Amino acid sequence: MGSRLGDKKHRHDVYFKKAREENYASRAVYKLQEVDNKYRILRKGMRVIDLGAAPGSWSQYAAKKITSSGHLVSVDLNELAITLPPWAKFFQSDFNNLDYAEIMAEIGGTFEVVLSDMAPSTTGIKFTDCVRSAELVNSILDRIPDLLVAGGSFYCKIFQGEGFDPTLRRVHELFKRVKIIKPDSSRAESKEQFIYAWERKPLS
Ligand SMILES: C[S@@+](CC[C@H](N)C(=O)[O-])C[C@H]1O[C@@H](n2cnc3c(N)ncnc32)[C@H](O)[C@@H]1O
Repeated sequence: MGSRLGDKKHRHDVYFKKAREENYASRAVYKLQEVDNKYRILRKGMRVIDLGAAPGSWSQYAAKKITSSGHLVSVDLNELAITLPPWAKFFQSDFNNLDYAEIMAEIGGTFEVVLSDMAPSTTGIKFTDCVRSAELVNSILDRIPDLLVAGGSFYCKIFQGEGFDPTLRRVHELFKRVKIIKPDSSRAESKEQFIYAWERKPLS
């Protein structure tokens, strides 16, 4: 019998191997797939934005789910390691620097789903890393009223720690339904958590 650590490593090797076998750019895909299987976040024809998309597995998965009748916009500071289909457009940029009004005009409307697996470059200092992760999520939340249709959904990564609770309160203000999720494929020792929020409230 293996040790607990051995078992955990084996489980994660399984996700790594599975991603390679299924031609995904990263094992991160299962942190989206697992939640999508449960909540049906992504559907045919949707307009979706994927923030922090590189190397590209969430975008590969989302593009497949929305099919060619949808629109995917992927954004990252770094290049993607994969090629996306024609109904996806990639911007290599800080997500704060994009002209979303222009992008949404091009794809014919506001997004129905906002995804973010963005993570700050980590320092190893838990407090700092958590604050930076919360800052990224708060910058997205600032844009939610413009980016996301009323009724739309939001799935994002955030580190558990400083900044988490006030960020979560903001999410509750914007959405009717909110869940905190730790997907099976997320390493137990990682401080990452995911927030799934849906039914964005109409602007009051
Ligand atoms: C964990 S990776 C994302 C993995 C991706 N979901 C996948 O499936 O391949 C986090 C990404 O967030 C990106 N990122 C961090 N800050 C960003 C910012 N301000 N604007 C755009 N991308 C950012 C990083 O460059 C990094 O590639």
